[in-house]
Amino acid sequence: MTLIMNACAFLCKVLTLPLHVAELIGLLSFYKRVFPLIVYKVTSSYNGKMNEKKRELFRNLSKFYPTKGSLRILEVGCGSGANFEHYPTGCRITCIDPNPHFQNYLEKSMAKNDHLVYDNFIVASGENLQAVEENSVDVVVCTLVLCSVKDTPRVLQEAKRVLRPGGAFFFLEHVVSDPSTWTYFFQHVLQPFWYYFGDGCQTTRATWKHIEAAGFSDLELRHIQAPLFFMIKPHIAGYAIK
Ligand SMILES: C[S@@+](CC[C@H](N)C(=O)[O-])C[C@H]1O[C@@H](n2cnc3c(N)ncnc32)[C@H](O)[C@@H]1O
Ligand SMILES: *[C@@H]1O[C@H](CO)[C@@H](O)[C@H](O)[C@H]1NC(C)=O
Repeated sequence: MTLIMNACAFLCKVLTLPLHVAELIGLLSFYKRVFPLIVYKVTSSYNGKMNEKKRELFRNLSKFYPTKGSLRILEVGCGSGANFEHYPTGCRITCIDPNPHFQNYLEKSMAKNDHLVYDNFIVASGENLQAVEENSVDVVVCTLVLCSVKDTPRVLQEAKRVLRPGGAFFFLEHVVSDPSTWTYFFQHVLQPFWYYFGDGCQTTRATWKHIEAAGFSDLELRHIQAPLFFMIKPHIAGYAIK
């Protein structure tokens, strides 16, 4: 089975060769402008289907208020701001995303969610949060981001650095399926196409292993099946405490 899977995946890689070349010579950079619109559109459908799960997850934000003042949230890979509606009134939000073209859509979401205080939109990747001081936030949030980052362990180390002791890293991510499933098979075979469509998104990551290995003091992690397109059904949800 593995042999067939690898052969099919190889075939798909060959088929995507033109895309690979186009990316190398910069022809795909226009997609960085288009992708935010796609994310913005897809978000309302994703949020509709995941509303209950998000609500359950973010209910636990209340455990991480500092002894004084409002909850400080850093959203890494914020995209168009898909989680704002789930944050408690009065939270202070800093947003980070490497793609500056999200700004317009982000601002729309901010305008819709005026129960929050928005401090900043920083154009940076999660691997390098130098714009944020260490021990300075109560919560870091990543949703559908660790599938696309270049270096997951580094992003997690950066999240840990900026969190205050006792603060938490909240995540909701699609992950690789169990190897005995067809989903696993197609996640690997179709990955080369998915990568370009999803602006670097990978369906084959065992992200939970990185979170477990990141040295957090406590971890609340669940594997769930999301009511979504089969390739991104397997999700992990939870939070890790610094
Ligand atoms: C599928 S979108 C998800 C956006 C949003 N978090 C949500 O839940 O709708 C993936 C996001 O990750 C961002 N991203 C890609 N590489 C990243 C990196 N290395 N560090 C931080 N964010 C990254 C993309 O620009 C995009 O906004
Ligand atoms: C919220 O926290 C409780 C433990 O206090 C845990 O049992 C529950 O699973 C958490 N919810 C999510 C969605 O992580």
